[in-house]
Formats: sequence, C-alpha cells, structure tokens
Amino acid sequence: MQLRLAIIGFGVVGQGVAKILCERKEQLKSRYGADLIITAISDVKKGAVADPQGLDPSALLQHLETHPDLTSFPAPDRGWDALTTIRKADADVVVEVSWTDVKTGGAALGHLREAFACGKHVVTTNKGPMVVAPWEMLEAAARAGVEFRFEGTVMSGTPVINTAWRCLRGCEITGFSGILNGTTNFMLTRMEQGLTYQQALEEAQRLGYAEADPSGDVLGWDAAGKVVILANTVLRKPLKLEEVELASGITEITPAHIEEARRACERWKLVAQAHVEDGKVMASVLARRVPLSDPVAGVMGPTNAITFRTDLLGPVTIVGAGAGQKETAFAVISDLLDIHATLVAKQA
Ligand code: HSE
Repeated sequence: MQLRLAIIGFGVVGQGVAKILCERKEQLKSRYGADLIITAISDVKKGAVADPQGLDPSALLQHLETHPDLTSFPAPDRGWDALTTIRKADADVVVEVSWTDVKTGGAALGHLREAFACGKHVVTTNKGPMVVAPWEMLEAAARAGVEFRFEGTVMSGTPVINTAWRCLRGCEITGFSGILNGTTNFMLTRMEQGLTYQQALEEAQRLGYAEADPSGDVLGWDAAGKVVILANTVLRKPLKLEEVELASGITEITPAHIEEARRACERWKLVAQAHVEDGKVMASVLARRVPLSDPVAGVMGPTNAITFRTDLLGPVTIVGAGAGQKETAFAVISDLLDIHATLVAKQA
C-alpha cells in the first residue's frame, strides 16, 4: 500500500527521513509492502514544494547541498505555507517535524489540529503539541478516526511509548525515572573527558542532538516536556509542564563539580522522574550525583534510559538512543510502518 507523506519541517529530522528513504525505500516496499512517497514538503526557512507524483528524496537532499533553500527545486506546486500544505497536499499522512516549543506548543499545535480536521493521519516527533495539549491531540485524532503516532517525542526512535502501551498492557505503571535528554547526558560525558561546558554544548549542537534553541535542553525543559508526555500518555494522569519541579538543569555544573563527584566515585546526571502519590503525579528533573554503582551512572553520551515501575513485572528498563538525526528519523519511519500495518489490517 502507498502512504503519501506531507512533511512539515525539513530540518535535521525531516532531512533524516529523506535520507532513510533514499537508502531503504525499496527494502521497506519489498519487506513490509509499504510504499512511502513524499508528495509535499513545507519548511519556514527552506520553502515549500509539492508534487502528487512524488518528490525524489535524493534529489531534494542533493539540491540542499548546493542551494540554501528549495525555491528553485523543480516541482509543479510551490510556496505553500504549512497549513496550506496540510490542506492541499495529496497526502495520507502529515509528518510534523518542525521547530519544537514545549512551553507554548508552537506552530506545530496548529499543524496537528489542521491535520486532524482534514482527516489526515499524523506522525510527529515534535514534543510541543503533546506537552501542551496531549489529551486534546489524542481526542482529536480519535474523533477524526485517524492514526496518530508520536514515539519520537521521547528518546528518539527507542521504543518507549510503544513498549509501555503495547508490551506492558495489563500492568499498572506507577512511575518512571531515568535520563531523558541526550544533549545534557552527552555534555556531562564530554565534560568528564575534559571539555568545557561551552565546548561540550557546541559539539552537541554540531552532532544534531540539541534543539534549535539549546537552552531548553540545558535548563531541563526538554526533559520536563518528555516527563509530561509520559505522565499523560503512559501513567494516564494529567500533568502540566509548570508542575514539574525544575532547578537549573545542568547549567550550574562546573568541571570542579565533576571532579569532586569523580573523587567520591559518583557522577552527575540529569535525572527525570514521575510517580503517582495519592492519585497525583509528582515529577521532577534535577541534576544529581549518583554513585557509580547505580545503573544510570553507566548511561553515557547521547544514550538515554528509562525504568518503568510496574505492579506485575517490577522495574522494566529500556536503554537506547536519546537524540540524533538518524535515530529520530527512524522513529518517523517506524511509526509510518506501524500506521501502514494498521491500515492494511483494517482493509482486510
Ligand atoms: N534535544 C533533544 C535531546 C532531542 O537532546 O534529547 C531529542 O528529543
């Protein structure tokens, strides 16, 4: 079955999706029967192009190697803004991978509302809408009768939400804790190896781990956003961003602090957690010194980890990539394949 995609946002993740399609399009078709075709792209900086016959992902990427934007890329339709693209593109699925704003939801909130109103399926890695209005998004998708996947909002392509929703079905999940931001974990690792805070941040930005505005990463807002998404969708309890206890993220950790921890056989980590207490979610994202014997201390670089506390199975830990272009783009591909499988099953 064909799945035609309108990609909103063609930055790190959007281009990552195009890269995977360049390499794997035929394999995805022969192995899963999923023919993924990009029919539209709209990006605030790079412009917009659309072609109901399909845009060649490799030609798009090559074009961007020599041009700053897509304005001269040959296509029958062009110049549509995001909302027009969502409405007019010949697409089954809107892939929302634009700029993230966990405090307001940003433009992505309107993009998802429009996609659901148009009856289009949605895949997103954008945390904004699922932090600011998770229940509204889930209900809008259900009302519209469309598929909605957002695995890439937490720990990139590492299957956290799917594991909780599918594999832990039947268990009561009463809380979780772990490391939910790749940038800060990478920075702490690199600072331990001798880099300054600024050098470590610049490297995280260069490698595509940090958000476009990295202050959300280092101050803990990004991890807090992920806590909110998991509290609402996995613990199924309402939690707002401003209810997460936050201090200064990792911004006040100096090489001297790191050295002091090392001498005490400890390591600094930005620990995110939430648990249910008297029916209410208590959540925090705080930098802490953890003993080297704590399994979380061994999670290094952009790798993340989460332990779900469950009633029937005890603690269940998932460790995997927390950030990165290919890792987050994989979340989109895996969500698209899941939607494809669901639609094929519905047809049968
Ligand atoms: N900036 C985020 C991080 C990207 O470093 O974890 C993945 O959500």
